[in-house]
Amino acid sequence: MSLELCVIEGDGIGKEVIPAAIDVLRCVAPNVTIHRAEAGWETFLRCGTSLPNDTLRMAHECGAVLFGAAASPSYPVDGYSSPIVQLRRGLQAYANVRPTRYLPVPTAREGVNLVVVRENTEDLYVGHEHTEDEGRTGIAEKVITRGATERVARVAYEMATRVGRKKVTIVHKANVLPQSDGLFRSVALEIAQEFPHILTEELLVDTAAYWLVKDPTRYDVILTSNLYGDILSDMAAAWGGGLGLAPSLSVGDKVALAEPVHGSAPDIAGQGVANPTAAILSIAMLLRHHWGRHEDALAVEGAVCDALREGNHTSDIYTEGAISTDDFTRRVCAHLTS
Ligand code: NAI
Ligand code: MG
Repeated sequence: MSLELCVIEGDGIGKEVIPAAIDVLRCVAPNVTIHRAEAGWETFLRCGTSLPNDTLRMAHECGAVLFGAAASPSYPVDGYSSPIVQLRRGLQAYANVRPTRYLPVPTAREGVNLVVVRENTEDLYVGHEHTEDEGRTGIAEKVITRGATERVARVAYEMATRVGRKKVTIVHKANVLPQSDGLFRSVALEIAQEFPHILTEELLVDTAAYWLVKDPTRYDVILTSNLYGDILSDMAAAWGGGLGLAPSLSVGDKVALAEPVHGSAPDIAGQGVANPTAAILSIAMLLRHHWGRHEDALAVEGAVCDALREGNHTSDIYTEGAISTDDFTRRVCAHLTS
């Protein structure tokens, strides 16, 4: 089977970790065809759009995408909106699967093995935002629909069933938002009834955050909406050893979008020190879940673990003895080709 992959490096460390992930992919799938496309803040400055039509078309055609990161400003810019949010919606990659598993680094917590399944197409991320009262009031619309909740809940429960997970925790804030989060809660609980072999519990998002800090081992699968999933998955990433190690795969009916959880990391961009592990493990998720290449996925994950276990690490893990992005990538590749 020929593998077609649309690759979007994006901004900042996306330009460093994505080439690293492709080097690793080529070790297990040398015949992969890479289709390069652009998106992000620099693209916006050059082309007036952060996600050109050609990029979206290429992503659709390939069905598999590897995305680095976009540097989205924290202030309004006329005509700009986050390309990754647009891409997830445009491709209808409606469920973002974000696992946190113990990795052999001193910053990770033993025993952690959880997956955040985050709704990916709606909530506050629909981008319906405006100001009133001459800029003194900002208003954002939160959208939760039955359809989007059903499909993300099915991904969570079907995945739990497939990989032998035991429990799904539905996270919401329905006590304050009974119309929107209340809908998410009730639809998720309806889907849960189709999966009686999986234990279902629910938590309010603040309590869920408390338990994620206090005892992350209590979680198995967390099913939640877009914003809560964004925040809780960064928290969970801390237990996995850090943001530099946290992979994700956004899935839809026909497409998959591999994207590290982290952003463009402007504080370290351009220095060649970014941790490529999150991007490499995102490729492993793509190999397993989209291309059905389980052996290759296991090989990549094994090579990353071996490289880390030998003490190879970038400076986000700890600074003493830290090596560069390229050197770390070479150590991973060495385990795949030896
Ligand atoms: P960030 O995830 O880029 O960085 C947070 C911290 O983690 C920084 O100290 C960074 O150096 C470190 N870090 C992240 N990934 C790392 C890696 N692979 N290796 C070593 N250290 C790593 O989040 P931040 O700083 O809040 O956002 C920066 C920009 O990224 C913003 O413009 C934001 O909009 C964008 N962003 C984009 C995302 C995406 O495109 N999917 C996701 C999150 C943020
Ligand atoms: Mg995030």
